[in-house]
Amino acid sequence: MTPGFGKRADEILARLDELRAADAPTHGGHVLSYVYDSGLAELDELAARAVRAVQPVNGLDPTTFTSVATLERELLGFVRDLLSGTDGDGDVVGTVTTGGTESCLLAVKTARDVWLAARGLDPGSARPRLVAPTTVHAAFQKAAHYFGLELDLVSVGEDGTVAADAIAERLAEDVALVVVSVPSYPFAALDPVGEVAAACARHGIPLHVDACIGGLVLPFWPGLPAWDFSVPGVTSISADLHKFGYAPKGVSVLLQRGRDRQRMQYFATTRWPGYPVVNSTILGSKSAGPLAAAWAITEALGRDGFAELAASCLRSTSALRAAVEGIEGLRVLGDPVGPLLAVAADSSLEQSRQVDPHHWADAARALGWVLQLQPAVRQPDGTVLPPTTHLTVTPVTEGVLGDLLPALAAAADAVRGVAHFDPAPLLSGLPPLDGATPLDSDTAWALLQGFGIGSGSSDAGSDGRALPDQLAPLLALIEVLPAPIAERLLTELLARLVEPV
Ligand SMILES: Cc1ncc(COP(=O)(O)O)c(C=O)c1O
Repeated sequence: MTPGFGKRADEILARLDELRAADAPTHGGHVLSYVYDSGLAELDELAARAVRAVQPVNGLDPTTFTSVATLERELLGFVRDLLSGTDGDGDVVGTVTTGGTESCLLAVKTARDVWLAARGLDPGSARPRLVAPTTVHAAFQKAAHYFGLELDLVSVGEDGTVAADAIAERLAEDVALVVVSVPSYPFAALDPVGEVAAACARHGIPLHVDACIGGLVLPFWPGLPAWDFSVPGVTSISADLHKFGYAPKGVSVLLQRGRDRQRMQYFATTRWPGYPVVNSTILGSKSAGPLAAAWAITEALGRDGFAELAASCLRSTSALRAAVEGIEGLRVLGDPVGPLLAVAADSSLEQSRQVDPHHWADAARALGWVLQLQPAVRQPDGTVLPPTTHLTVTPVTEGVLGDLLPALAAAADAVRGVAHFDPAPLLSGLPPLDGATPLDSDTAWALLQGFGIGSGSSDAGSDGRALPDQLAPLLALIEVLPAPIAERLLTELLARLVEPV
């Protein structure tokens, strides 16, 4: 096949294979975040064929590409049943979005627009509050930023859980939305949905339950309190199909209670000379591939299949938790719910017996296991959440536990007693970085280079190695730098990564 005047298809694909070979492995359970491997090759193949079948379709217009409407309706039906959305008045409706972030953004935009409309206000004329625990996903920080809400974060306890009372105290007329998570991404804490929903209902404030990570797996998790649409007062839920729905990236569901409320999510205009625009989501033209793949997977697995995969995750998570708790110097933070957990240093021990979670993650990486480092963060009440390392378990984990658990123990042995990285020497001699003066691009880049980040060339990614092998120093810098500086530096790093050379 020679499609044009460029390179041959086999050459192009060979280069793609070469680039993919440098990626972290998406299959096989060695990467314990970002990827959700069912371990079922036939499911991946089915998804790939579904993507291929709708490859040229434009998901923008379900009246022209009618398959899109049917796939979306059926997929929403599956998730709505799973989340008790059919139990009540039959007014839980929804939208398939391109991912968790888009579902969260739209939940916030809807709530803002409902709040403004109830008061006859225009966007920009008021900044209602968005109340959520500090552990709420960063997508809600983004939503508040994009849509002009005041983010009012409520500190969580040492175990990562938020007290329902602490949220209830913040509720007032200017709150457009409260968000809780089932579970939270950083620590897998299950927020108290029932109590918060009751408090919200008393004030007439909507409650979003962010089940982006838990939505397709917690319905099968034993012993949980009710957290879905069976709880009165829950007004919307986000649940990602590209996480524990095992679909390729680009598909999530946002369900909303109340048709009229949900219609506020839409954008429609007939006020331009082109085609009438009616968008349920943020994008215009969009792929139908991830939608088709998610739909095919739910058809293939059904509830029973999801239940079986969740049971595997439960067994692996229990084994992993027990193993980590058995490693001297480490502890599991709080009482995690669902197939994820965070690991901190056991600060009840003397320093020489503690294992720093970031050095531990770096040591595990050297043994072939990619864990996710999470920085220490100061909360609004002044308390500090400790540095942790995050692990997400998927069905494929069960088959590799025999290698993973000894590797985690060996990694801990390798770094036990090594103190959390001290970034002070890296910062000495630099002008004060107080976050007040904006950094220009070249200064930010020079600082990164000084910290040994960005591979030392002008294009951070030309050798595919923007980050050093050891991430503990980078995380330590993020912890001590003023947030605007750390955010600016990371922006520079990521932006340089894709600058054409
Ligand atoms: C609880 C929660 N909410 C939102 C998101 C954002 O999802 P996405 O990365 O698909 O945009 C995530 C991602 O991990 C999550 O765990």
